[in-house]
Amino acid sequence: MSAGSKLGNRTALVTGGSSGIGAAVAECFAAEGALVMIADIDDAGGAAVVRGIEGKGGRAVFRHVDVTVRADVRAMVHAAAALGGGLNILCNNAMSNPSDHYTVDERWDVMLESGLTAYWAAATEAAPILARSGHGAIVSIASIAGARIGIDFASEAYSAAKAGILGLTRKLAKKYGRDGVRANAICPGIIETPRWRSPDSVEPQFARRYRQMAPLGRFGLPSEVAALALFLASDDASYITGQDLAIDGGFTTAYHFESIAFD
Ligand SMILES: NC(=O)c1ccc[n+]([C@@H]2O[C@H](COP(=O)([O-])OP(=O)(O)OC[C@H]3O[C@@H](n4cnc5c(N)ncnc54)[C@H](O)[C@@H]3O)[C@@H](O)[C@H]2O)c1
Repeated sequence: MSAGSKLGNRTALVTGGSSGIGAAVAECFAAEGALVMIADIDDAGGAAVVRGIEGKGGRAVFRHVDVTVRADVRAMVHAAAALGGGLNILCNNAMSNPSDHYTVDERWDVMLESGLTAYWAAATEAAPILARSGHGAIVSIASIAGARIGIDFASEAYSAAKAGILGLTRKLAKKYGRDGVRANAICPGIIETPRWRSPDSVEPQFARRYRQMAPLGRFGLPSEVAALALFLASDDASYITGQDLAIDGGFTTAYHFESIAFD
């Protein structure tokens, strides 16, 4: 974790910060001086991330929030703002991954509620508070799946939610730009987090193909997504709003389809 002061005296709210990309974003923001609220359903994971941040001299608190509960999403925003006397950064990142026990209709509802509606509810609730901060930034984690390309292993619900984040981001940029609030989205390719594969499981064929086709020839790291989130959340990106940036090793723009030996 690099230590700096790009986010000194700022408060950040990161949903899904107990694991993976969200944890890396929380750690990165804290290392840059932000007071970070991690909102997640995983209490133990969140507590571990907070301990790790505090161990490095950073400031973080955990709040149990299920982002499928809209009232709790809105309350979360005000709780984060109450922490540090305002809110500067909202990172929408959490998305439920419902088990196979759900019906297809339930899966659709849960994924759209967590992966799109919660992003909207948090952003619109936060916008007036972000505006008062003078450095308001919304960074939403989408995906190349749905937002850039159709992918077999990404469900319709996942794809629709992720594509929706881009439309939401552009609307937020327009609606709140004059208030000094910027809104941008990040579209990761395959990032090595617990969401898609446990470290000791066999690599699925799609993942091997991805590595073969991506110009950089590897998966991304949560810390690499966090570095982009930091850039977009900080004053380094002060004239960037309404954008979506892919962080995918070049997969969606320059893939090596010519050299793959398909079986
Ligand atoms: N890992 C990838 O390859 C990849 C690629 C593209 C996009 N993404 C996106 O990045 C984001 C983070 O994914 P990740 O890979 O870090 O996953 P992860 O499973 O490592 O972390 C997700 C976190 O979200 C939390 N969460 C799940 N449902 C929640 C709910 N209802 N309320 C609150 N918290 C909840 C989990 O407890 C967990 O801590 C997601 O939006 C995902 O779609 C991931």
